[in-house]
Amino acid sequence: MLIDSYGRKIDYLRISVTDRCNLRCIYCMPQAGIIHKPQSKLLSFEEIARVVEIMSALGVEKIRLTGGEPLLRKGVVDLVKSLSGIKGISDISMTTNGILLKEYASALKQAGLKRLNISLDSLHQERYSLVTRQGKLERVLEGIEQAQNAGISPIKINVLLLDGMSVDEIMDFLRVSIENSLHVRFLEFMPVNSFYKIDNFISARDVIDIARKCFALEDAAIYGNGPAEVFKIKNALGTFGVISPMSSKFCFKCNRLRLSSDGFLKPCLHSELKMNLRVLLRSSASDDDLAEVIKSAAAEKPKEHNLDKGEFLFSDYSMCQIGG
Ligand code: 5AD
Ligand code: SF4
Repeated sequence: MLIDSYGRKIDYLRISVTDRCNLRCIYCMPQAGIIHKPQSKLLSFEEIARVVEIMSALGVEKIRLTGGEPLLRKGVVDLVKSLSGIKGISDISMTTNGILLKEYASALKQAGLKRLNISLDSLHQERYSLVTRQGKLERVLEGIEQAQNAGISPIKINVLLLDGMSVDEIMDFLRVSIENSLHVRFLEFMPVNSFYKIDNFISARDVIDIARKCFALEDAAIYGNGPAEVFKIKNALGTFGVISPMSSKFCFKCNRLRLSSDGFLKPCLHSELKMNLRVLLRSSASDDDLAEVIKSAAAEKPKEHNLDKGEFLFSDYSMCQIGG
């Protein structure tokens, strides 16, 4: 069992499978000048599976694949299949921008993917293009439909509360949760890099207030809630929720570690701490040696981030490399 020094049980690993992306969201990547990690530094599927096997023996049960855009990693469906066959792994999910989902949804489901989070910050092509610099909204919507048809459930839509997000647009997303069996999650914006800042912070509370003004809300819970506070609008098919890392941080219940695409284990998104598993995996280190390093990553997991106190860490890993 992995228990950190604050008594938190670590049972969740988020794995970035590529630092590449087919979008250029304004808050995540600069327009140009992105230097990708060389192929040789990417963990192979065998290396990832070995880490997951060792971690599952230590009590990790849930895996999320992220990127960059995870569907850009060649053979990612095979990875899902191999991870879902590992003893002790009960839940495999993915966070994707949805652009390639239409092509992959059925195969992902067959390979054992249980749940899906789709990052979608606007339902209007014009604003979607502004935010993603190049995305085709239509493709994402078709991808969501295909994922629903394939039987992946629950499907969550991650909406980042960015500057310029209007009340109308928040209402549009709330309506999505009424009319579809989809679970909309509004995310408070975290300052994590130096090239994108927001002027008008929208909080989780703002969203709940907007929803309450127009709809009758009930508390709700779905499988894999994570840190979200979840509601259901009366008679809605889906739910909506808010994730408030800034206004009401949930570090006290954080249960996750992160593995970057180049093989660093990170105990916290907002800390410089990282352990180089790649070098160990490519040395003669035994599984026990790796387990010791993984335990030390859990033991050194920081208590909390201090973004809310103005302590920002603009690390060498951008959000796109470690996948939120
Ligand atoms: N603050 C909060 N969430 C973010 N994400 C990306 N950048 C930020 C940020 N600065 C989210 C995306 C996506 C997930 C991978 O991380 O919306 O859903
Ligand atoms: Fe790609 Fe996601 Fe970053 Fe957008 S936020 S550029 S979709 S990794």
